[in-house]
Amino acid sequence: MTYLLALDQGTSSSRSIVFDRQGQIVAMAQKELTQIYPRPGWVEHDPMEIWNSQLATAREVLAKAGLQARDIHAIGITNQRETTLLWNRKTGQPVHHAIVWQDRRAEPLCAKLRDAGLADTIRDKTGLVIDAYFSGTKLRWLLDHVPGAQAQAERGELAFGTVDSWLIWQLTGGKVHVTDVSNASRTMLFNVHANAWDVDLLEALDIPAALLPEVKPSSAHFAHTDATLLGQSLPIGGVAGDQQSALFGQACFEAGMAKNTYGTGCFLLMHTGDVFQPSHNGLLVTSAAQTSAQPRYAMEGSVFVGGAVVQWLRDGLKAIKGSAEVQSLAESVPDAGGVMMVPAFTGLGAPYWHADARGTITGLTRGTTVAHIARAALESIAYQSAALLQAMSRDAQAAGGAPVSELRVDGGACVNDLLMQFQADLLGIPVVRPEVTETTALGAAYLAGLSTSVYGGVDEISKLWRVERRFMPTLGRPQAQEAMARWEHAVRQATAA
Ligand code: G3P
Repeated sequence: MTYLLALDQGTSSSRSIVFDRQGQIVAMAQKELTQIYPRPGWVEHDPMEIWNSQLATAREVLAKAGLQARDIHAIGITNQRETTLLWNRKTGQPVHHAIVWQDRRAEPLCAKLRDAGLADTIRDKTGLVIDAYFSGTKLRWLLDHVPGAQAQAERGELAFGTVDSWLIWQLTGGKVHVTDVSNASRTMLFNVHANAWDVDLLEALDIPAALLPEVKPSSAHFAHTDATLLGQSLPIGGVAGDQQSALFGQACFEAGMAKNTYGTGCFLLMHTGDVFQPSHNGLLVTSAAQTSAQPRYAMEGSVFVGGAVVQWLRDGLKAIKGSAEVQSLAESVPDAGGVMMVPAFTGLGAPYWHADARGTITGLTRGTTVAHIARAALESIAYQSAALLQAMSRDAQAAGGAPVSELRVDGGACVNDLLMQFQADLLGIPVVRPEVTETTALGAAYLAGLSTSVYGGVDEISKLWRVERRFMPTLGRPQAQEAMARWEHAVRQATAA
């Protein structure tokens, strides 16, 4: 039997999954990760906890699967993106906690870059908007605030990396400093046309090139692990940021194929093939996972509060005891009874980009019950995703492409049938749930399997992707359009608040 080990280092936990050659899960292990909030708007992780928890789950999953390291053909790594680490090359010690992607501390620096008129250059070179989300300004913050860091960086004594680079550094005992294109494309320092660090952007942010990892395609030989860690040295054959990895794990390899991951937030990505397709609707362009040196792109939009709205129903409103209860409560009423919830708890992202918007619940009557509110909360996840997909389809059509014809789904909340059906109804296209919904880890395993000849090509992987359930739209188009118009009206009220 051929087995692949995926290391999936996410924001809230480190996970390891063993897959067989057919892409079926053999065993899984998971450890929660401590979230550190030193100040409002700041979010950090302890780099050693990231590494130790990841290594512990890798060991645990082998034991659970009843396997030894020698049974593993190759390792794939996927990770929370943008999170920024800086460490000493000689000692291997981090010089600071990791600054997590959600952290807003670099916003003043971003404002300066915008004032300096760099928005167009950055969008054209990187596909990104200037935002504290990305690694570049987080790294600048570290170099400014860790005493002596800039001078050490200039002398070549420090290494910068996203979580993938940090894990590979640790897995190789400090021998290999490398990343992949999909992670590099989230730094705001990477030219996605040239597949190389951009000299002008490094200069604009005064980032010494000596800090940077070597960049490889996502499916490639990255390194061999230190033999003492898992009992035998293993090749690392695939690396991708978690959202691009999920796009790959969903077998979305061609232009127009899209997936939505329903997690705490929602991340919707549409492959655009080898076309860099700038958005006119506030979406990002990002490097898709690449199996060769040839650039491949995706459009991306994110919903800040997706499944997190269910946590709010549980912890904030105390309307339910456990997240699983939401479906039965929402199903106890035939519809939301005219209630509309816009969960703009932290502002609204694409396609609205209203940092100051706040959550609203509208349409309340004497007949409104907590069940209507639960239903409206669930529906808000689908409305936000529908607005993103419509924006993507508008961009695709403006560029002469076809609109998205089906949406592949994954992530924790995709098990909710009511939500998936409502999503299909709003979109008017099939919403398709695969048999294996651990697509983030699966994508990394496939990338590793491709570079180590487990698979002959992506066609073989496409054949392994199997539908568990296809949700077909049942709502008439006029009714769906009317529902979207009511949603947009509610968004206007949230942004006026
Ligand atoms: O861009 C951030 C994203 O990569 C984080 O994903 O699943 O770790 O919350 P997740």
